Amino acid sequence: MNRNYALEFVRVTEAAALASARLTGGGDEKAADHAAVEAMRAAMNTIEFDGRVVIGEGERDEAPMLYIGEKVGKGTGTKLDLALDPLEGTTICAKGGNNALSVIAIAEHGNFLHAPDTYMWKIAVGPEAKGAIDLSKTPTENLREIAKAKKVPVDQLTVIILDRPRHADLIAEVRRAGCRIWLIGDGDVSAAIAAAKPGSGVDVLMGSGGAPEGVIAAAALRCMGGDFQGRLMWRNEEEKSRATKMGVSDLNKIYRMEDLAKGNVMFCATGVTQGPFLDGVRFVRGGATTHSIVMRSETGTIRHIQAEHRFETKPNYKFN
Ligand code: FBP
Repeated sequence: MNRNYALEFVRVTEAAALASARLTGGGDEKAADHAAVEAMRAAMNTIEFDGRVVIGEGERDEAPMLYIGEKVGKGTGTKLDLALDPLEGTTICAKGGNNALSVIAIAEHGNFLHAPDTYMWKIAVGPEAKGAIDLSKTPTENLREIAKAKKVPVDQLTVIILDRPRHADLIAEVRRAGCRIWLIGDGDVSAAIAAAKPGSGVDVLMGSGGAPEGVIAAAALRCMGGDFQGRLMWRNEEEKSRATKMGVSDLNKIYRMEDLAKGNVMFCATGVTQGPFLDGVRFVRGGATTHSIVMRSETGTIRHIQAEHRFETKPNYKFN
């Protein structure tokens, strides 16, 4: 895969971040998401590639744009699959909280899992604990193995968990193990990245979140040299039968990072609101600044891109 794609696609996440950031704190999740989706699609369709959305805004009948299976790009050149979330953390953006992102992961055709829109039980760690995680084991056993790999006592670990009632047992178990917990309101893609980023103060992400977000996080962690596992979760028979139709044959499978995102993958993200590893969009006189990361699994290079955008020369970004 041409390495320049990652640099091309950062313009796409920048466009989506700029569009949705304008609605930060506006209390309207749908409007913020819609702005990001429209901007992402328009920017993507200026790039020379033959793209297909594998992880997107939902099934064709529920999402008018960037739906699963939608063809994107100019339709010529390399065939690429995309796992994208124009606004990861719609509620965060609507409330003006931390860690909303615009993200795209890119792989060669056929290399992302077609994840159904269900929950996924997830565990994510950074390079030091690669190989130490196993979702067939209990959270306590995983914490012990992670601590051993990182050469620290278990009670020095910090676990990031989505703050949800469904995580009550997990939270109690992690507390019994003596670990610190960072409960977050939303945004487990950025939480997985935090778990893999040295110096973030987070050692592991645990718990359930969206399965599509799991594929995106796996792509990011492949680039960062971290590790990720996920197991799909089912709330009813309908979810199971939809997943079976999408090609999921083993409903209890533990997906390793490479099962979710295979081959060479690239990952771009732009901060929409402020976060520990990406600054949010800042509006300045006549323009705005953005902060993005661009990563490739083949080389492990992580680029931070700070951009200054001037609205007078970018008519699409002109806001009233
Ligand atoms: P959205 O941007 O689609 O709102 O997702 C935010 C998010 O927090 C994800 O990061 C996470 O995977 C999922 O929602 C968790 O789902 P739920 O809010 O149902 O627990």
